[in-house]
Amino acid sequence: MEYLLGVDIGTSGTKTVLFDTQGNVAASKTIEYPMQQPQNGWAEQNPEDWWQAVCGGIRAVVAQSGAAPGEIVGVGLSGQMHSLVMLDADNQVLRPAILWCDQRTAAECEEIYRRVGKERYIELTANPALTGFTAGKILWVRNHEPEIYAKCRHILLAKDYVRLRLTGVYATEVSDASGMGLLDVPHRCWSDEVLEKLEIDRALLAEVYESPEVTGRITAEAAQLTGLAEGTPVVGGAGDNAAAAVGTGVVEDGQAFATIGTSGVVFAHTSGLSVDPKGRVHTFCCAVPGAWHVMGVTLAAGQSLKWYKDQFCGLDCQQAEQEGVDPYVLLDRAAEQVPIGSNRLLYLPYLMGERTPHLDPDCRGAFVGLSGMHTRYDLLRAVMEGVTFSLRDCAEILREMQVHPTQILACGGGGTSPLWRQMLADVLGCPVATTVSKEGPALGVAILAGVGAGVYGSVEEGCRKLIAVNAAQAPIPENVQAYQAFYEIYRALYPALRDSYHALAQL
Ligand code: XUL
Repeated sequence: MEYLLGVDIGTSGTKTVLFDTQGNVAASKTIEYPMQQPQNGWAEQNPEDWWQAVCGGIRAVVAQSGAAPGEIVGVGLSGQMHSLVMLDADNQVLRPAILWCDQRTAAECEEIYRRVGKERYIELTANPALTGFTAGKILWVRNHEPEIYAKCRHILLAKDYVRLRLTGVYATEVSDASGMGLLDVPHRCWSDEVLEKLEIDRALLAEVYESPEVTGRITAEAAQLTGLAEGTPVVGGAGDNAAAAVGTGVVEDGQAFATIGTSGVVFAHTSGLSVDPKGRVHTFCCAVPGAWHVMGVTLAAGQSLKWYKDQFCGLDCQQAEQEGVDPYVLLDRAAEQVPIGSNRLLYLPYLMGERTPHLDPDCRGAFVGLSGMHTRYDLLRAVMEGVTFSLRDCAEILREMQVHPTQILACGGGGTSPLWRQMLADVLGCPVATTVSKEGPALGVAILAGVGAGVYGSVEEGCRKLIAVNAAQAPIPENVQAYQAFYEIYRALYPALRDSYHALAQL
């Protein structure tokens, strides 16, 4: 029997899944870890937590499945994008990783434009300089922690740090590297011009591969720590969104998915390069060699709901524990009792600032329309609706770019909620389906591992063999109309609040 291993190093935890070559789950393990927010708008994690979660996860799935280590023929890595890991000459982590949702680098993004020229930078990297991307974070460390920068010898992304610990190799791949702000996205290689103008030594960066290519093999030490066989190949893998695309079979033009994970994403595959001239959505290389994707990102999607649950739903969580059910299932049922529009209450999901469509690190969340009659469940539904409106903002820009998917696949934790999926169908005005496998990014990188190990002839072939889609939920016409009225008011709120947000950020 042959198996493929997919590891997804997410923000709330690492999910490790062992699949057979038909895509059936042989064993799965999720290990969670915290995110630190030492200042308003900052977000950090300890890379050692990722490594411990990966080792624990792999050991658990190997034991649970009873697979012989030699039967695991390939490993694929996925993970949160953009997060900066800096290592010294001995591969010691120099400071906590600065995450994708961290907003501290507004001044450094200006510096990037000053050094490279805004138009030229967008031409080279296919994206604007964004606070969440890695380039600004590198400059921030150089500007604010020069003693750390001086010691830095290697710069890696989250999954690529784990790859180093597994294989001893400094490697990345095009999909994740696209989000660093240093890659020539059209040509799928580091941009020498950007690196020179930013005075970043290319030797700090890892070698760039295509996603299904073998980048290295499990070392003897990693074999001991994980239970894998020494020499098992590890492929490039993909950033979590490009991996989710493979895991949902979004590998051809006209196909799209929406994720409600910690972040929210609306993602469409494009075989040609397509760039939003206003930079509101990202254009990245995708995991299919030679193709790209466009995606809009909402920073606090599932994170909004988690924040709301943790801060205000203690009683519901207690009840869920007593009943032995997932608290989110209980909250879903409560939100379902509230009418569309949450009794005239709107929520803006900008807890961590926002990328699409505002590109504003200084905006923050808001409830608008609060009344003495509202219960915590009205606020709960408003949170879910606000996140969905924000995904509509993403989808509107893709429509402007002539991307018109006939159906959207829902994934991420939020995608498992039937209520949230119906909301998505009604707000986006498009049928929403799910894939039979719920493993998203982990399955995606397992397929990439299968391509690297020669199990499948191509990414597309692997997807055709492994991905099946359930019947779609269609938009309900009266709901579409009802949400439309609230969406129009939602859309007017950010422009009305922008100056206040910026004034608040200055205090
Ligand atoms: C994408 C992004 C997020 C993270 C979340 O640009 O920042 O989706 O990848 O893990």
